[in-house]
Amino acid sequence: MTLFDPAALLVSRSKTADEGAIIRMSQRARELRTKGVDVVSLTLGEPDFDTPDNIQQAATEAMKAGFTHYSPVMGIPELRAALSRKLKSENGLDYSANEICLANGAKQAIANAILSIIEQGDEVIMLAPFWVSYEITVRFAGGTPVVLHASVEENYKVPASRIAAAITPKTKLIVLNSPSNPSGAVWSKAELQALADIVRAHPHLMVLSDEIYEYIIFDGAMNSFGAMPGMRERTITVNGFSKGFAMTGWRLGYAAAPEPIAKAMGRMQSAITAGANQFVQRAAIAALEGPRDAVERMRKEYQLRRDMVLGGLNAIPGIKAGQIPATFYAFPDVSALLGSKAGNHLLYTTDALCDWLLDEHHVATVPGSAFGAPGSIRLSFACSEAEIGKAMARMQKGLGSLA
Ligand SMILES: Cc1ncc(COP(=O)(O)O)c(C=O)c1O
Repeated sequence: MTLFDPAALLVSRSKTADEGAIIRMSQRARELRTKGVDVVSLTLGEPDFDTPDNIQQAATEAMKAGFTHYSPVMGIPELRAALSRKLKSENGLDYSANEICLANGAKQAIANAILSIIEQGDEVIMLAPFWVSYEITVRFAGGTPVVLHASVEENYKVPASRIAAAITPKTKLIVLNSPSNPSGAVWSKAELQALADIVRAHPHLMVLSDEIYEYIIFDGAMNSFGAMPGMRERTITVNGFSKGFAMTGWRLGYAAAPEPIAKAMGRMQSAITAGANQFVQRAAIAALEGPRDAVERMRKEYQLRRDMVLGGLNAIPGIKAGQIPATFYAFPDVSALLGSKAGNHLLYTTDALCDWLLDEHHVATVPGSAFGAPGSIRLSFACSEAEIGKAMARMQKGLGSLA
């Protein structure tokens, strides 16, 4: 008799939906910690701050007031109106409340968008280094990711000419993420305009602009792609509350797009989870319209940490740290260190280098292979200055011995 094997039921979609290296490295760091090893983990992309008090209070009040039921699928009208005002006043974006669809996190908003417009045969241009979830979702939808690379010398921004050269009649979407996870890159207005010129020349093409790190910028300014001339109709703008307002666990994000696409995203939302949490949406209005001093305090704290990390990385020979004008990630290019031998470890890839850094020097980082950029590693500095100081000293000792 043959035994039932549940694994034999799995289809390729479920096997490839894997955030791989990020999860693997944070799990390995946790395991070492439980064995008593003093590990500094720089793996996770989540603020270490608690959600500001006024937002917590608004959620509690909303719950007490009975907002504990199903929400309209695309979100409560008050929040959609507040987001329409926010997008206009802060980002110069003209989306009516009807063109905004709330979701359980920006991640779901991205999935709603991609599942609405991408199917088998469609190509999606991804600008590496990129956040891995885009690629997973494009594959989910049956689309083909077309990956273009930018180097640290290019400040991790793919030049417009290379994007233009990659467009085929099958290209339907370009995924843009400024400020970027993992590189911290911020696209300037001129760079966005150059991209808009390309999009204008291809009527079958849209841009998904993920702006979730907009409140964590240190150098330069936020510019929204959809605010470039003629780009309102050609852009799906994604944003959320997780990063700037330190609300990762609350699960609220949104996408804004021309109405037919917004409605399609609502259908995806309805089919998969129904409307986002009702009292969290009430609290989100307080986040948008209440005082922003906590948001600014967190930004300043990230900036101090950014300076510490940059100083620490720049002191390591062979590493190119780049600039980090935004976010809480560093993405140094360590390719010059690859090929080294450290004891029994052959460090030919950043996967091997990150394993070695964790095993021998007790610092957990994420290899760039997780972001389509295998010559770099990602460090999240959403942790205390004491932990950053410890991590930098250990990395200087470990990586410094390789150079
Ligand atoms: C670039 C980017 N977009 C979207 C998200 C998802 O955010 P959310 O928590 O709202 O799903 C993340 C989270 O790491 C991210 O880095």
